[in-house]
This record gives sequence, structure tokens and C-alpha cells, in this order.
Amino acid sequence: MNLQKKYSKTKPFKGYKIAGCLHVTKETAVLIKTFVAAGAEVSWSGCNPLSTNDAVAAALAAENVSIFAWYNNGEDFYWCIERTIDTPPHLTLDDGCDLINTVHEKFSHLAKNFILGGTEETTTGIQRLRARQKANKLYYPVFAVNDTETKWDFDNVYGTGQSTLDGILRATSVLLAGKNIVIAGHGHCGSGVAKRAKGMGANTICTEIKATAAIKALLEGHEVMTMDEASKVGDIFITATGVTDIIREKHYLNMREGAIICNTGHYDVEINIPELQKISKSHRTIRPNCVEYILKNGKKIYLLAEGRLINLAAAEGHPSEVMDMSFANQFMSHLRFVEADKKGKKLPKEVIDLPIEQDEFIANTKLESMNINIDKLTPQQIKYIEDYNAGT
Ligand SMILES: NC(=O)c1ccc[n+]([C@@H]2O[C@H](COP(=O)([O-])OP(=O)(O)OC[C@H]3O[C@@H](n4cnc5c(N)ncnc54)[C@H](O)[C@@H]3O)[C@@H](O)[C@H]2O)c1
Repeated sequence: MNLQKKYSKTKPFKGYKIAGCLHVTKETAVLIKTFVAAGAEVSWSGCNPLSTNDAVAAALAAENVSIFAWYNNGEDFYWCIERTIDTPPHLTLDDGCDLINTVHEKFSHLAKNFILGGTEETTTGIQRLRARQKANKLYYPVFAVNDTETKWDFDNVYGTGQSTLDGILRATSVLLAGKNIVIAGHGHCGSGVAKRAKGMGANTICTEIKATAAIKALLEGHEVMTMDEASKVGDIFITATGVTDIIREKHYLNMREGAIICNTGHYDVEINIPELQKISKSHRTIRPNCVEYILKNGKKIYLLAEGRLINLAAAEGHPSEVMDMSFANQFMSHLRFVEADKKGKKLPKEVIDLPIEQDEFIANTKLESMNINIDKLTPQQIKYIEDYNAGT
């Protein structure tokens, strides 16, 4: 809101079009309205077939925002993205790289000759972009919004931590206390989910491939084991790795009767659903976002939200109190492109890390908005820090 107020006066985005592809939630609506207030023309699609809040999309449409998104738009998912680039955008804003990929693969003339730059919101999207850069196939600069401290260490940890459990509760209404909850991946998202699940009284079990992440999980008080072992004892499984095939056939066969499985990673690849279907004799939806599979051996397993990110498909995504910092990063990153363009400056066609000053500005603004003061270094303290010769 601070940025909206400031830039609605100067309208730095006047004359620039932004195409966005990011979950259509009420928080995203505030980001879109901030760009519009700052003079931008905006066209938007959702970045997941099950994450659009239809009421929000309708409200944006009523305010003349060009929006191509509705809940469960699976078959038309890429059609929606393509409509946002019918009028070529100067800037792209992604969450998961689907827009950048579409532009690069299908409209490469735009990527090579017209688009000034883009931003990427999530861990998996950044991975894809770094791979694209390595293959010399990235045609315009992209700011790694995910990798800023004010995004990765808050949105992914506290946002996913809370909203993932919210999604599970809305889809199942089960008691978490006393359950064995298995969280695959103890990175930013997984550690947040594990922390919150433990706080709800669950016995938390983490699986990892990275030794230091596994040790962190252990020292946080979680059990650590392989998925082969965890699949035998878990009641609820949550994948948060960004990697494919985390839960597959042999794990389903190990699982206890009534096991619940869901994913909070970006893509619906972490739970191998075709293998679940292969070993099942039937399935039926028992409540919204909860499908009961009856395996050929008679066991029941419950799959939530079709393996898509549970917090956005079954709940409302992260609350605004954490998305404000992520989206302030988005706004300020796009402002960098516009300011560079006005000065005739070109940025390298790479995935670019954002400067620490942006994090500091956003964090300080956030504290100010909460009326919280923090200490400042005194001149003596600065002198002490800079003194290479200070000892005992
Ligand atoms: N649900 C949401 O709203 C939301 C929000 C932010 C990010 N994400 C997505 O969540 C995923 C994770 O993001 P992150 O920021 O936590 O990434 P991260 O890199 O911080 O953590 C991922 C962790 O998974 C581990 N891992 C990788 N392969 C594994 C395997 N086979 N078994 C067990 N662990 C494995 C890695 O070692 C790492 O510690 C990404 O797909 C990201 O895009 C979702």
C-alpha cells in the first residue's frame, strides 16, 4: 500500500505493458491494482489450474483489468497465458516460468526483440530459468524475486507453513495432533510446514537428499528417515521438494490404511498419480479436494487437490501479511526495468539477483507498517565492527 500510494502520483509505468502469470488471489489483486495505479497496462493469467479465486478474477474484470483466469481452467491453461501476450508486453511477471517458457518457445521474436525483462516468483521457476540460461536459451534478463531474503525466508517458510496445513484441514477436517506427518523436503517450504505441524501436536518426520538440510530437521526436533521407511509409518504425507516422483508405487503399497497425501511444491509432479491409478481398483470424490482411492489390495488412500499445491487449491494461499513483502519485491523489480529503460540502459540476459538494499527497504517499510522500532548501530559499535585489530 505504501508503494501504491507513492507511485500512483508519479505513474512510472505509464506506456509500459506487463503480462503476469501468477495465482489469482486477493493478494495478487492488490499487486495488479498497484501496477495499474502506477500507470501500467496489465494483462493477467493464473499460474495453476486450481488456484484462481473466481470472485477475485470477476472483481478485477469488473475494474477493466484484462484477466484470463478461472478455477479449474486445466484444458485452457496455456490458451489463457497466450491471450495475455496478444498485445505484446514490455515486461513479464511469472510464478513457475510458464509465461516465460511460452514466450520463449512460441513467440521467440518477442522474447528476442521486444520484451525488456521479467521476474520470477518461485523456487522451481528460478531453477528452470537457470537451466535455460545454462543452455544459452534465455533471451531477456529476469530478476530472481524468489531468492530475495524478504521473499524466500518469509513467504516460503511462514506462508507455506501455515497455508499448507490450512489446505489439508479444509480438504479433510482431520485432527493433526498425534498424527505422523511426513514432510518431503526440509528446505524453505518444508521446514515451515514441519515447524507448524509440530506446533499442532503432530509427530513430524522429514525426508531429504541434502545432508545439511537433514541435520537441520533433526536439530529442530523432527525425525529424519528415507521415504521408503517413512511411507510405512506416516498418516499424512506432504511433498515440498520441487522435484518429481517423490511418492510413487512402492510407497503407496507400504502405506497405512487411510493415509492422506498432498503436495505443496509448485508443480503436480511430486506425487506420481498415474502409478496410484494403476494400482487402484476405483476412486471417488468424497468431499471437495479429497479423492479416495481403493487399491487393488483393498487399502484406502486419500489424495488431496489432485496433487496440485494444496494451500492454493484447497485454501486461499498465503495470507496478505506475508505476500506484501513478496509482491513489494515484484513491484520494485519491475520498476528497475522501467527506470533502466528510460535511461537507455540494457541489463544482461541472465537470471539476476536483486541487491540487498531492496530487501532492507522492504523489511524496514514492513516494520514501519507494524509500528515496530528496532535499534540502530551506535558510532562506537560501527567503529568496533570495522576495527580489524580488536581482540580480547
Ligand atoms: N505452495 C506454495 O505456495 C509455495 C510457495 C513457495 C514455493 N513453492 C514451491 O515449493 C517447492 C519447494 O520450494 P523451497 O523454496 O522450499 O525450495 P528449497 O530449495 O528451499 O527446498 C527444497 C528441499 O527439497 C529437498 N529435496 C530435493 N529433492 C528431494 C527428494 N527427492 N527427497 C527429499 N527432499 C528433496 C532439497 O534438498 C531442499 O532441501 C518449489 O517447487 C517451490 O516453487 C510453493
